[in-house]
Amino acid sequence: MNAKRKVIIDCDPGIDDALALMLALSSPELEILGITVVSGNVPAAMGAENALKVLDWMHRPDIPVYLGEERPLIRPYVDAADTHGENGLGNLVCPQVTKVRPRRGAVEFLAEALTEASETGSPVSVIALGPLTNLARLIQRHPECFAGLDEFVSMGGNYRSHGNCSPVAEYNYWCDPHAARTVFEAFASLPSLQGRLLHMVGLDVTRQIVLTPNLRDYFCRLDPELGALIRSMTDFYMDFHWQQEGLIGCVINDPLAVAYFLRRDLCHGFSAYTTVETEGICLGQSVVDACGFWKKAPNSRVLTETDPLGFMELFFSRLLKKSPEELGPMLASLMGGGSL
Ligand code: RIB
Ligand code: CA
Repeated sequence: MNAKRKVIIDCDPGIDDALALMLALSSPELEILGITVVSGNVPAAMGAENALKVLDWMHRPDIPVYLGEERPLIRPYVDAADTHGENGLGNLVCPQVTKVRPRRGAVEFLAEALTEASETGSPVSVIALGPLTNLARLIQRHPECFAGLDEFVSMGGNYRSHGNCSPVAEYNYWCDPHAARTVFEAFASLPSLQGRLLHMVGLDVTRQIVLTPNLRDYFCRLDPELGALIRSMTDFYMDFHWQQEGLIGCVINDPLAVAYFLRRDLCHGFSAYTTVETEGICLGQSVVDACGFWKKAPNSRVLTETDPLGFMELFFSRLLKKSPEELGPMLASLMGGGSL
């Protein structure tokens, strides 16, 4: 078996973050070195408690959780409790995890892990599922540490899709636009990131990933215990999507970023120079120079196409420990494709 891929997941759990963590924790090709938490959907302290709960469900109390930045670099902090519920996990109520506790120092943990990766020649990837505040602080304090970076995947932004926080802005980059710009600029100018790309898994692809009631029912039939947790979290999330956009189901953004890291062929797009607007009515917009007006070297891989059925086969098969071949026909049928 190939060596496991070392990864740190930076997140703001959050319902779809929780589903993304469940996918990562069900994927044996990953060695998750730690989970770093940032204020986003909910304050970092609450997000860290939620990350511990997910680790408890998945029987992985060994993976450390680190508390990160409590507020954006410059903007006032605005949470997404309207979308994820006051506790960040929808209606789900479960006891706080007490046998392990979050550690402090997410940014220092990231710096130490990436530095060690460089020194040992064993690179580490980062999958960022929330606002990029922790990563921006890392760039400011330890710009040299990225020599140990393998891949960087960020769920955030949008190219031609409308926003979800404004007509043009996606939440992660809208919540902390200065951090997002700092990270994109680092991929354009930091020596230790020379020639590397930020893989931007934005709304153009994630909005195609909709967990519908039928898909959720199928999951619950196959695994009532895990399904009950997913149902509790996503009932609130589905209500939000119905009220917000008349959608039956819920867009699960973050798991696609993990799935893309696991299977690069799940998303396709193009390389371009991208930056993020930090002020005015377009604050938080990821501005993709697809036509090369600014004649700047690409700093990002902008994902624009995905395979929703392929994602669901991966997501379901990993969490349910069943083969994609076994699940595929019913998934295709439930997603309006094929027939049983
Ligand atoms: O815009 C969607 C993103 O913002 C997701 O990562 C969601 O969890 C929130 O962080
Ligand atoms: Ca998130």
